[in-house]
Amino acid sequence: MSTLPGNAGVSVLGDKSLEFYREPVCFCLQRIEKHRSRVFQSRLLNRPTAFICSVQGVRELLCEKSGVFLKDPTDLMTNMYGDNIVTTNGEEACLLRLSLTSLFTGACLESWNDYITSVCERCLKDLSVSGQPECVYSVFKALGTELVLGLFLNVRPEEQPELYQEITQLCTQHWHGLISAPVSVKVPMWSSGFCTALEARDKLMDIIRDRLDTDTQGFVGSLASLPLPDSSSASQHLLLFISALIPKALASLLTSFTLALSGNEQEETRRRARLDPDFLHSVLLEVQRLWPPFIGGRRIASQDTSLAGFHVPKGHAAMYISHSVHRDPEVFQQPDDFLPERWSGRNAGQEHLLCSFGGGPRNCIGVKLTDVFIK
Ligand code: HEM
Repeated sequence: MSTLPGNAGVSVLGDKSLEFYREPVCFCLQRIEKHRSRVFQSRLLNRPTAFICSVQGVRELLCEKSGVFLKDPTDLMTNMYGDNIVTTNGEEACLLRLSLTSLFTGACLESWNDYITSVCERCLKDLSVSGQPECVYSVFKALGTELVLGLFLNVRPEEQPELYQEITQLCTQHWHGLISAPVSVKVPMWSSGFCTALEARDKLMDIIRDRLDTDTQGFVGSLASLPLPDSSSASQHLLLFISALIPKALASLLTSFTLALSGNEQEETRRRARLDPDFLHSVLLEVQRLWPPFIGGRRIASQDTSLAGFHVPKGHAAMYISHSVHRDPEVFQQPDDFLPERWSGRNAGQEHLLCSFGGGPRNCIGVKLTDVFIK
C-alpha cells in the first residue's frame, strides 16, 4: 500500500482558520494539481490529515469505512455546542439518531408545510415589488432564521418581537465563537469574541430550558417527550438546531440558486424550473454540487487503515472537501460548468454521490426538511 502524497508537517489552516471556506478550497485546488492526486496528506488542527477530494475516497470514508473513521469528540464544535449527536460515536450516536430522526420525517415534516409556506410568502413578497437592489443573502438569512426559530422554538417575530430579536442576536454572537480563537478573556470594557460567544451560549441555554419546561406544543414539546440519554440532551440539541449555521447554509444555497439562474441567458432555465418540478430538482442538485454550503466533515482513524489505496495510520484525521469532491472529473464531466441536465442524463440516479449533506450512516438528519425549505 502506498503512503499518501504530501507533507504531514505543513500546516494548512493555522491561526487563519477564520477564513473558513475559501482557504481550504484554494489549498485543495493547489495540492491536487501539485500531487496529481485527489487524495493527499497535510496537517490540520495539529494532526496529520488525509484530504479527500474524490468521489471514490469520500464513499469509502463515509460509507464503507464509517466504522473505522469516527467523529472527533474533542472537535472545536464541542466548546460551543457541548455534547450532542454531531461529536458522538457508536451506540449512543445510533440511539440519538433514531430518536431525533423521527422529528424530521413523516407526519412531523408534513405538519410544518403550512407554516413554512406562510413565512416564505411573507418574507419574500417584498423582493419582487421593491424594484430596488437587495442583498439577497441577507433576505434569505432572515428568512432562514425565522423558519428555524418558529419551527424549533415556537418563537415568532410577530408574536414576541423582543424575545425574537434577543435570540437572533445571541445566535449570531454564539456562532462567532466557532470562528474565533478559543481564548476566553474578559477585562473591563472588552471581551474576546470567544468569551462573548460563551456568554451568549449560556443565555441561549437559559431561554431554551425555559421553553422546554413551559411549552408543550410543536417541536419543543415533541423533543421534550423523546427518550433521550440524559436530561440535558434535549436542550443541547435545541441549541444545535437553532444555531446560526442552519440559516447560513440555507441562505448560501438560495443565494447560489438566485445567482445561477439570473440574467437574460438563463431565462429559459428559469421558465423550465418554474414549470417542471423534476427540472427544478435537477437545478437544485447542480447548485449544491457546485456551491455546497459547508466545507465538508472530519473523522479520526480508530485503527491503521487505508483510503483510496493509501495507508492511513491510527490517530490520523481524514477530511472530505465537498467543493473538490463535487468537481471530480471521473464522475462529473465538465465539472466546473452549471449543467442541470446532467442529472437526467449521464449522472441520473447519482445524487448519493454528492456530499453537501455528508453521507452514509452519519449523513445530515435535516436533509428532508432542507428540501422542503428550499423548494
Ligand atoms: C442547507 C442546510 C444544511 C446543510 C448543507 C447541512 C449539511 C450537513 C453535513 C455536511 C453534515 C455531515 C457532517 C459530517 O460528515 O461530519 C450534516 C450533519 C448533520 N446535520 Fe445538517 N445540514 C443542513 C441542514 C440541517 C438541518 C435543517 C438540521 C436539523 C435541524 C441538520 C442537522 C444535522 C445533524 C444533527 C447532523 C449530524 C448527524 C450525525 O452526526 O449523525 N442539518 N449536515
